[in-house]
Amino acid sequence: MSEIYEKLEKAYKAVRARTDFVPEIALVLGSGLGAFADEKVDEVISIPYSEIEGFPTSTVPGHKGKFVFGTVGGVKVAVMQGRVHYYEGYPISDVVMPARLLSMLGARVLFLTNASGGINPDLAAGDFMLIRDHIASFVPNPLIGQNIEQLGTRFPDMSNVYDNALCDVIKNSAKELGIELKEGIYAQLTGPSFETPAEIRMLGSLGVDAVGMSTAVEAIAARHCGMLVCGISCVSNQAAGISKTPLTHDEVQETANMAAPRFKALIAEAIEDISDHISTVHN
Ligand code: HPA
Repeated sequence: MSEIYEKLEKAYKAVRARTDFVPEIALVLGSGLGAFADEKVDEVISIPYSEIEGFPTSTVPGHKGKFVFGTVGGVKVAVMQGRVHYYEGYPISDVVMPARLLSMLGARVLFLTNASGGINPDLAAGDFMLIRDHIASFVPNPLIGQNIEQLGTRFPDMSNVYDNALCDVIKNSAKELGIELKEGIYAQLTGPSFETPAEIRMLGSLGVDAVGMSTAVEAIAARHCGMLVCGISCVSNQAAGISKTPLTHDEVQETANMAAPRFKALIAEAIEDISDHISTVHN
C-alpha cells in the first residue's frame, strides 16, 4: 500500500478514536478568516492537528491549526481552522492530506477559502471572489507519484473543479444577504515571497484575476477523491505593482479581519444553502 495512504489511514484512526462525527461539508478557513469557527460553529469537538499522528501543523500567524467539528445552522461541518502551505516546507502530499482526510471522514463537499492578491483591476481589497476555476501550473501537482487507487483514478478530469451548481448556490446566498460577490480565476503560486510586478503582469496576461499561495492543490486532491469543491477568495490587497505600497502579511490579515463579519455571514448562509442543494440533488 502507498505510504501516503498508510499515513492517511493512521490519521483517520486517530480522529475516529476521538469522535464518530461525520461531517457533510468540510470548510477550510484561510488567512485571517479563522474566527468563523469560534463564532458560527456550534462545536461538538475540536482536535488540534498536533494531536493527530503524522498530521502537518501550520506555522503561519493567523492559522491556528485545529479541526473544529460541529454544526452551522444544523448542518454538520468539519472546519479547518488553519491550513498548511507548501512554502512551509511540507511535501505536497502533506499539504493535501487534510482534504483527503476530510473526504475519508465523510465530507461530500470541500469549501475552500483563502486570502488573495487582486490582479483584475475590478477587484479591490475587501472584495470577495467566487473561484470559478484555477491555474495550478506553477505548483507541483499533488497527484504526482504512484496513484492511490483507494482514493481515485490516475487521470482525473478537472473540467469542473469548482462545481458549477455549487457556484450558483453560493451566488444566490450572496444575493439573499445583499453581499457583493465577484467571480474569477485564481492562480496558486508557491510563495512565500509575494510576486514581483512582472510576475503579476504575466499572470494578468494569462487571465488570472487573483493570486495566492494555497487552495488549488487542495481542490485537485479533493476532486481526485470525488468531493464536490467550491471556493471563495477574500481579496486582501491589490497585487504587487498594482498596489502602490509594499505588501505585508499584516495587511493581508487586517483586510481579512475587516471583511470578516460579511465573510462569516456569507459562509454560514452558503453552508446551509449547499446542504439543502446536496440533499435535493445528490441524494
Ligand atoms: N500574493 C500572493 N498571495 C497572497 C497575496 C498576494 O498578493 N495576498 C494574500 N495572499
